[in-house]
Amino acid sequence: MARHQRIVILTGAGISAESGLGTFRDKDGLWTKYDLEEVATPQGFARNPAFVHEFYNARRRNLLEARPNPAHHALARLEREHPGRVLVVTQNVDDLHEKAGSRNLIHMHGELAKVRCAACESVRVWREDLSLEHVCAECSTKGRLRPHVVWFGEMPFAMSKIELALAACDLFVSIGTSGNVYPAAGFVQQVREGGRAHTVELNLEPSEGHTLFHEQVYGPASEVVPAYVERLLGA
Ligand code: APR
Repeated sequence: MARHQRIVILTGAGISAESGLGTFRDKDGLWTKYDLEEVATPQGFARNPAFVHEFYNARRRNLLEARPNPAHHALARLEREHPGRVLVVTQNVDDLHEKAGSRNLIHMHGELAKVRCAACESVRVWREDLSLEHVCAECSTKGRLRPHVVWFGEMPFAMSKIELALAACDLFVSIGTSGNVYPAAGFVQQVREGGRAHTVELNLEPSEGHTLFHEQVYGPASEVVPAYVERLLGA
Protein backbone atom coordinates (compact mmCIF):
# COMPACT_ATOMS: atom_id res chain seq x y z
CA MET A 1 0.00 0.00 0.00
CA ALA A 2 1.61 3.28 -1.08
CA ARG A 3 2.33 5.64 1.79
CA HIS A 4 0.49 8.62 0.25
CA GLN A 5 -3.05 8.24 -1.02
CA ARG A 6 -3.92 11.79 -2.10
CA ILE A 7 -1.11 13.86 -3.63
CA VAL A 8 -1.48 17.52 -4.65
CA ILE A 9 1.32 19.02 -6.72
CA LEU A 10 1.62 22.80 -7.26
CA THR A 11 3.80 23.86 -10.18
CA GLY A 12 5.18 27.23 -11.24
CA ALA A 13 7.28 28.69 -14.07
CA GLY A 14 10.41 26.89 -12.84
CA ILE A 15 9.12 23.51 -14.05
CA SER A 16 8.96 24.89 -17.61
CA ALA A 17 12.25 26.84 -17.49
CA GLU A 18 14.23 23.95 -19.01
CA SER A 19 11.66 23.74 -21.81
CA GLY A 20 12.80 27.21 -22.86
CA LEU A 21 9.81 29.14 -21.46
CA GLY A 22 10.81 32.12 -19.32
CA THR A 23 10.19 32.46 -15.61
CA PHE A 24 8.99 35.75 -14.11
CA ARG A 25 11.31 36.71 -11.26
CA ASP A 26 14.64 35.12 -12.09
CA LYS A 27 17.48 37.41 -13.12
CA ASP A 28 16.29 37.72 -16.77
CA GLY A 29 12.65 36.87 -16.02
CA LEU A 30 9.66 38.36 -17.82
CA TRP A 31 8.97 40.88 -15.07
CA THR A 32 12.48 42.24 -15.47
CA LYS A 33 11.67 43.08 -19.14
CA TYR A 34 8.00 44.10 -18.97
CA ASP A 35 6.01 46.14 -16.47
CA LEU A 36 3.40 43.64 -15.24
CA GLU A 37 0.99 46.54 -14.64
CA GLU A 38 0.98 47.14 -18.41
CA VAL A 39 0.64 43.55 -19.65
CA ALA A 40 -0.90 41.50 -16.82
CA THR A 41 -3.72 43.63 -15.40
CA PRO A 42 -7.25 44.43 -16.69
CA GLN A 43 -6.32 48.13 -16.48
CA GLY A 44 -3.27 47.55 -18.70
CA PHE A 45 -5.45 45.75 -21.26
CA ALA A 46 -8.02 48.55 -21.21
CA ARG A 47 -5.30 51.19 -21.65
CA ASN A 48 -3.40 49.51 -24.50
CA PRO A 49 -4.97 46.26 -25.75
CA ALA A 50 -2.72 46.08 -28.83
CA PHE A 51 0.42 46.05 -26.63
CA VAL A 52 -1.04 43.35 -24.38
CA HIS A 53 -1.95 41.25 -27.45
CA GLU A 54 1.65 41.61 -28.68
CA PHE A 55 3.00 40.42 -25.30
CA TYR A 56 0.80 37.31 -25.25
CA ASN A 57 1.25 36.64 -29.00
CA ALA A 58 5.03 36.41 -28.44
CA ARG A 59 4.55 34.00 -25.51
CA ARG A 60 1.95 31.96 -27.45
CA ARG A 61 4.38 31.61 -30.40
CA ASN A 62 7.06 30.32 -27.98
CA LEU A 63 4.57 27.72 -26.79
CA LEU A 64 4.18 26.22 -30.28
CA GLU A 65 7.77 24.93 -30.27
CA ALA A 66 8.09 24.22 -26.52
CA ARG A 67 8.29 20.57 -25.47
CA PRO A 68 7.72 19.04 -22.02
CA ASN A 69 10.92 18.26 -20.11
CA PRO A 70 11.62 15.21 -17.87
CA ALA A 71 9.91 16.97 -14.93
CA HIS A 72 6.56 17.21 -16.78
CA HIS A 73 6.90 13.60 -17.94
CA ALA A 74 7.68 12.44 -14.39
CA LEU A 75 4.46 14.01 -13.05
CA ALA A 76 2.43 12.36 -15.84
CA ARG A 77 4.10 9.03 -14.97
CA LEU A 78 3.22 9.52 -11.28
CA GLU A 79 -0.45 10.08 -12.20
CA ARG A 80 -0.44 6.92 -14.35
CA GLU A 81 1.43 4.61 -11.96
CA HIS A 82 0.60 5.83 -8.45
CA PRO A 83 -2.28 3.83 -6.91
CA GLY A 84 -3.67 6.91 -5.11
CA ARG A 85 -5.01 10.18 -6.54
CA VAL A 86 -2.60 12.71 -8.06
CA LEU A 87 -3.77 16.27 -8.84
CA VAL A 88 -1.51 18.85 -10.52
CA VAL A 89 -2.47 22.48 -9.81
CA THR A 90 -0.40 24.66 -12.09
CA GLN A 91 0.14 28.42 -12.03
CA ASN A 92 1.55 28.10 -15.54
CA VAL A 93 -0.44 29.05 -18.62
CA ASP A 94 1.65 26.80 -20.89
CA ASP A 95 0.33 23.39 -22.07
CA LEU A 96 3.41 21.31 -21.22
CA HIS A 97 1.70 19.23 -18.50
CA GLU A 98 -0.98 18.21 -21.04
CA LYS A 99 1.64 17.54 -23.74
CA ALA A 100 3.43 15.24 -21.23
CA GLY A 101 0.19 13.33 -20.54
CA SER A 102 -1.07 14.79 -17.25
CA ARG A 103 -4.88 14.61 -17.15
CA ASN A 104 -5.93 15.45 -13.59
CA LEU A 105 -4.81 19.06 -13.95
CA ILE A 106 -6.07 22.51 -12.97
CA HIS A 107 -4.80 25.71 -14.62
CA MET A 108 -5.50 28.16 -11.78
CA HIS A 109 -4.06 31.08 -13.80
CA GLY A 110 -5.73 30.11 -17.09
CA GLU A 111 -4.26 28.95 -20.39
CA LEU A 112 -2.27 30.83 -23.04
CA ALA A 113 -3.62 28.58 -25.84
CA LYS A 114 -7.19 29.73 -25.13
CA VAL A 115 -9.11 33.01 -25.56
CA ARG A 116 -12.24 34.29 -23.83
CA CYS A 117 -14.94 36.66 -25.02
CA ALA A 118 -15.10 39.74 -22.78
CA ALA A 119 -18.87 39.89 -23.38
CA CYS A 120 -20.28 36.33 -23.29
CA GLU A 121 -17.30 34.72 -21.47
CA SER A 122 -17.18 31.81 -23.95
CA VAL A 123 -13.71 30.17 -24.07
CA ARG A 124 -12.11 28.46 -27.06
CA VAL A 125 -8.72 27.06 -28.07
CA TRP A 126 -6.63 29.68 -29.87
CA ARG A 127 -3.07 29.02 -31.06
CA GLU A 128 -2.40 31.87 -33.47
CA ASP A 129 -1.87 35.60 -32.88
CA LEU A 130 -4.79 37.50 -31.37
CA SER A 131 -5.54 41.11 -32.34
CA LEU A 132 -8.18 43.78 -31.88
CA GLU A 133 -9.76 42.73 -35.16
CA HIS A 134 -10.82 39.36 -33.72
CA VAL A 135 -14.36 39.29 -32.36
CA CYS A 136 -16.39 36.56 -30.69
CA ALA A 137 -18.09 34.20 -33.14
CA GLU A 138 -20.43 32.92 -30.44
CA CYS A 139 -22.24 36.00 -29.19
CA SER A 140 -24.49 38.55 -30.79
CA THR A 141 -22.51 41.49 -29.42
CA LYS A 142 -19.37 40.30 -31.27
CA GLY A 143 -17.44 40.85 -28.03
CA ARG A 144 -13.71 41.58 -27.92
CA LEU A 145 -11.50 38.50 -27.31
CA ARG A 146 -8.83 38.44 -24.57
CA PRO A 147 -6.24 35.86 -23.55
CA HIS A 148 -7.87 33.31 -21.20
CA VAL A 149 -5.30 34.03 -18.50
CA VAL A 150 -5.78 35.39 -14.97
CA TRP A 151 -4.38 38.90 -14.55
CA PHE A 152 -3.30 40.50 -11.29
CA GLY A 153 -6.41 41.61 -9.40
CA GLU A 154 -8.54 38.85 -10.95
CA MET A 155 -9.69 35.67 -9.18
CA PRO A 156 -7.78 32.47 -10.05
CA PHE A 157 -9.92 29.62 -11.44
CA ALA A 158 -11.27 26.54 -9.57
CA MET A 159 -10.33 27.82 -6.13
CA SER A 160 -13.04 25.83 -4.29
CA LYS A 161 -11.94 22.59 -5.97
CA ILE A 162 -8.32 23.39 -5.10
CA GLU A 163 -9.14 24.19 -1.45
CA LEU A 164 -10.97 20.86 -1.09
CA ALA A 165 -8.01 18.98 -2.57
CA LEU A 166 -5.56 20.78 -0.27
CA ALA A 167 -7.68 19.94 2.79
CA ALA A 168 -7.87 16.25 1.82
CA CYS A 169 -4.29 15.63 0.68
CA ASP A 170 -1.67 13.67 2.61
CA LEU A 171 1.24 14.87 0.44
CA PHE A 172 1.73 18.41 -0.95
CA VAL A 173 4.62 18.99 -3.36
CA SER A 174 5.54 22.50 -4.61
CA ILE A 175 7.69 22.60 -7.76
CA GLY A 176 9.36 25.55 -9.53
CA THR A 177 7.60 28.45 -7.84
CA SER A 178 9.09 31.39 -5.94
CA GLY A 179 6.18 31.58 -3.49
CA ASN A 180 5.61 35.27 -4.24
CA VAL A 181 2.05 35.26 -5.58
CA TYR A 182 -1.08 34.46 -3.58
CA PRO A 183 -3.29 32.46 -3.28
CA ALA A 184 -0.84 29.77 -4.55
CA ALA A 185 1.91 30.95 -2.17
CA GLY A 186 -0.44 30.29 0.75
CA PHE A 187 -1.28 26.67 -0.16
CA VAL A 188 1.53 25.13 1.90
CA GLN A 189 0.39 27.01 5.03
CA GLN A 190 -3.18 25.84 4.43
CA VAL A 191 -2.01 22.22 4.12
CA ARG A 192 0.12 22.56 7.28
CA GLU A 193 -2.94 23.80 9.20
CA GLY A 194 -4.66 20.51 8.33
CA GLY A 195 -1.91 18.90 10.39
CA ARG A 196 -1.75 15.61 8.45
CA ALA A 197 0.09 16.06 5.17
CA HIS A 198 3.78 15.88 4.43
CA THR A 199 4.97 18.97 2.52
CA VAL A 200 7.91 19.06 0.07
CA GLU A 201 9.53 21.83 -1.98
CA LEU A 202 11.39 20.91 -5.19
CA ASN A 203 12.99 24.05 -6.59
CA LEU A 204 16.20 25.51 -8.02
CA GLU A 205 16.68 27.50 -4.82
CA PRO A 206 14.76 28.17 -1.58
CA SER A 207 11.43 29.95 -2.23
CA GLU A 208 9.88 32.69 -0.07
CA GLY A 209 8.04 30.05 1.93
CA HIS A 210 10.76 27.39 2.09
CA THR A 211 10.75 27.18 5.90
CA LEU A 212 7.10 26.04 5.77
CA PHE A 213 8.02 22.76 4.06
CA HIS A 214 8.92 19.57 6.00
CA GLU A 215 11.32 18.59 3.22
CA GLN A 216 13.23 20.51 0.52
CA VAL A 217 15.19 19.23 -2.48
CA TYR A 218 17.05 21.82 -4.57
CA GLY A 219 18.25 21.47 -8.14
CA PRO A 220 16.95 21.74 -11.71
CA ALA A 221 13.40 20.35 -12.04
CA SER A 222 14.40 18.05 -14.90
CA GLU A 223 16.69 16.23 -12.42
CA VAL A 224 15.04 16.52 -8.99
CA VAL A 225 11.43 15.82 -10.09
CA PRO A 226 12.06 12.48 -11.86
CA ALA A 227 14.25 11.39 -8.92
CA TYR A 228 11.53 12.33 -6.42
CA VAL A 229 8.81 10.54 -8.43
CA GLU A 230 11.07 7.45 -8.59
CA ARG A 231 11.29 7.56 -4.77
CA LEU A 232 7.50 7.96 -4.41
CA LEU A 233 6.74 5.06 -6.75
CA GLY A 234 9.33 2.87 -5.09
CA ALA A 235 8.02 3.61 -1.56
N1 APR B 1 14.15 24.03 -12.02
C1 APR B 1 13.46 24.27 -10.87
N2 APR B 1 13.12 25.51 -10.43
C2 APR B 1 13.51 26.55 -11.20
C3 APR B 1 14.22 26.39 -12.41
C4 APR B 1 14.54 25.06 -12.81
N3 APR B 1 15.22 24.81 -13.94
N4 APR B 1 14.46 27.63 -12.93
C5 APR B 1 13.91 28.52 -12.09
N5 APR B 1 13.34 27.88 -11.03
C6 APR B 1 12.64 28.46 -9.88
C7 APR B 1 13.18 29.79 -9.42
O1 APR B 1 14.19 29.58 -8.45
C8 APR B 1 11.94 30.44 -8.81
O2 APR B 1 11.81 30.09 -7.44
O3 APR B 1 11.32 28.69 -10.31
C9 APR B 1 10.77 29.80 -9.58
C10 APR B 1 10.14 30.76 -10.57
O4 APR B 1 9.54 31.78 -9.83
P1 APR B 1 8.69 32.89 -10.61
O5 APR B 1 9.46 33.38 -11.79
O6 APR B 1 8.22 33.86 -9.56
O7 APR B 1 7.43 32.10 -11.20
P2 APR B 1 6.13 31.63 -10.42
O8 APR B 1 6.43 31.32 -8.98
O9 APR B 1 5.51 30.54 -11.22
O10 APR B 1 5.19 32.94 -10.49
C11 APR B 1 3.87 32.79 -9.97
O11 APR B 1 3.36 35.01 -10.78
O12 APR B 1 3.49 36.59 -12.44
C12 APR B 1 2.68 35.65 -11.87
O13 APR B 1 0.93 34.56 -12.95
C13 APR B 1 2.31 34.59 -12.86
O14 APR B 1 1.93 32.24 -12.47
C14 APR B 1 2.85 33.30 -12.24
C15 APR B 1 2.94 33.65 -10.78
